[in-house]
Amino acid sequence: MGQTIASLLADLRSRFDASQVAQPETDARLLVCELMGISLTDLILGGERIVDDGDAKRILAAAHRRCLGEPVHRILGHRWFYGIDLHLSPATLEPRPDTETLVEAALPLAKKVVGKKPICNILDLGTGSGAIALAILAEIQDAVAIVSDISGDALDAAQQNAQMNGLQDRISICRSNWFEAIDGSFDLIVSNPPYIRSADIAALSREVKEHDPLLALDGGADGLDAYRAIAEGAGRHLADGGSVLLETGFDQHEDVIEIFRGASFSCLSRMKDLGGNDRVLVFCRTA
Ligand SMILES: C[S@@+](CC[C@H](N)C(=O)[O-])C[C@H]1O[C@@H](n2cnc3c(N)ncnc32)[C@H](O)[C@@H]1O
Repeated sequence: MGQTIASLLADLRSRFDASQVAQPETDARLLVCELMGISLTDLILGGERIVDDGDAKRILAAAHRRCLGEPVHRILGHRWFYGIDLHLSPATLEPRPDTETLVEAALPLAKKVVGKKPICNILDLGTGSGAIALAILAEIQDAVAIVSDISGDALDAAQQNAQMNGLQDRISICRSNWFEAIDGSFDLIVSNPPYIRSADIAALSREVKEHDPLLALDGGADGLDAYRAIAEGAGRHLADGGSVLLETGFDQHEDVIEIFRGASFSCLSRMKDLGGNDRVLVFCRTA
């Protein structure tokens, strides 16, 4: 006779504990629910149900990959972000819950724009999976976005994600090194650029350094290269009354504010993520 759900879960938890997986319970539940196609309620109430052999084999193979350091959402191939489902590609960063703070900051600003103009124009620089722009478009009907990245493969993933979420008619794709190939002006310029100091990359967890692309992580010697490039170009592409919203590393707010001050921007607000770390800055042109 096969294993029950409860004994399979216990097996996964002990494998994950032994491999020092950070969230053994959460990851075990996620794998079992998704790979059996059941809800969390079914999982909790149906512990005595027998798992069929095919499902058990697939779940154990996935658990093996998790023990080797592959993040659980990479194994599943997708991740939810601010209410939209995103396919993950090796060319894109896995979108993080911290980045939802940027979406939270952008929504009231986008709503204010559509209160005054027919359409809110958004530029998402370094879009990766398309997470930020697509989450905003899903909430704001009268918004359109240019999603831009230096990686063509990331842009293919963003396009696929736009289609998966029925948003393909409101995005345009532009391959660009920051502003180099960008035309036009925007009400909101949003970006979660690479911001890890090059020397710190080796010390990141293997989940990050072996599975997120280096292009999405490496912010140069002091981690601030992308902010300098964005500050340099933003003035030419911001519509009157527009805002620039940036995700930063937890210890970078003062440096990024200084860079933007030097490019004639003032900091309108600063936000912390759910963990209480500095995470998002909002800028407007200095009057
Ligand atoms: C930290 S990831 C953010 C991805 C996505 N916006 C998110 O929040 O999940 C940074 C992104 O910037 C892109 N990028 C790196 N260098 C770039 C450059 N010079 N110009 C444009 N995009 C770049 C990377 O390919 C990557 O997709």
